[in-house]
Amino acid sequence: MSSTTLCWVTGGTSGLGAALVRSVPYEGARVVNVARHRVDGLDGVDNLVTDLGQPAGWEALRQHLRDELARFTGDFALFVHNAAALTSGAGYAGTVDPMEHERHVLLNSAAPIVVGEAFLAAVPDGLPAGLVMVSSTASTSLPVTRAAYGAGKAGLEQWVRVVRQERRERGTGPWVVAVLPGSVDTPGLRAAAATDEAVYPRAKVLRESLERGLVHSPEHVAAAIWAALPPADDGPDVIRVASSIAAATAESERR
Ligand SMILES: NC(=O)c1ccc[n+]([C@@H]2O[C@H](COP(=O)([O-])OP(=O)(O)OC[C@H]3O[C@@H](n4cnc5c(N)ncnc54)[C@H](OP(=O)(O)O)[C@@H]3O)[C@@H](O)[C@H]2O)c1
Repeated sequence: MSSTTLCWVTGGTSGLGAALVRSVPYEGARVVNVARHRVDGLDGVDNLVTDLGQPAGWEALRQHLRDELARFTGDFALFVHNAAALTSGAGYAGTVDPMEHERHVLLNSAAPIVVGEAFLAAVPDGLPAGLVMVSSTASTSLPVTRAAYGAGKAGLEQWVRVVRQERRERGTGPWVVAVLPGSVDTPGLRAAAATDEAVYPRAKVLRESLERGLVHSPEHVAAAIWAALPPADDGPDVIRVASSIAAATAESERR
């Protein structure tokens, strides 16, 4: 029997993505992890092993989405783009290793938009579908030594704003939304916290926040993301689902 819901989670092997894969709230859903490594041993979970930091990986995903959605007979398709690099590419602008910087930009700035376009292009007319983009407070704060990371998230949010407006004007197409997950205790955040402060001055604040228990569990944030769906068409384009240790400054600077 075919599943009634088909759900992709990019970066389902670690941290927030792993929690999302384990807690998909649609009964009997088939879930596909899209990452460089596999998720094994979970009922209903398949894998597309691909590198989303390379154009060849985008093409593999495009082809996979076309094939899967063309033969899908269920009633809802959902794509959660969560994969990102949290530590690579850190450093004052102009000092980052050029190849590392390029890989960071391909994964964090280019991939969300390419992946989003690929999903929307593959959804057959009339199939109810949704697309969630995982953003970060870094989209609006001033993440010193992580300019590329912040720019990637800001770009992703602007793409979401425009696509949501297109859906309002056309009255058709999948819903799209960006979510701010807040501070989440993941391998990615712990790696950022362990970074040399000369390369990433905020590492100390992250370490202290982890020690003081100010960081949410991935399970808590995954549940909050699912609870925020589907987003209202006239609601915010970017939904904060949990608090961030950087949010107070970020959101006031934005005004
Ligand atoms: N943790 C936080 O406090 C926090 C705060 C704000 C926003 N976020 C956002 O939340 C999302 C998840 O972050 P996290 O903290 O859970 O990170 P994480 O623990 O580092 O996990 C990152 C995931 O991305 C995948 N990934 C990395 N490079 C990839 C590539 N080239 N191709 C395909 N997949 C790749 C990894 O899978 P493979 O290694 O198997 O490829 C992994 O599953 C990210 O979008 C991040 O920006 C996190």
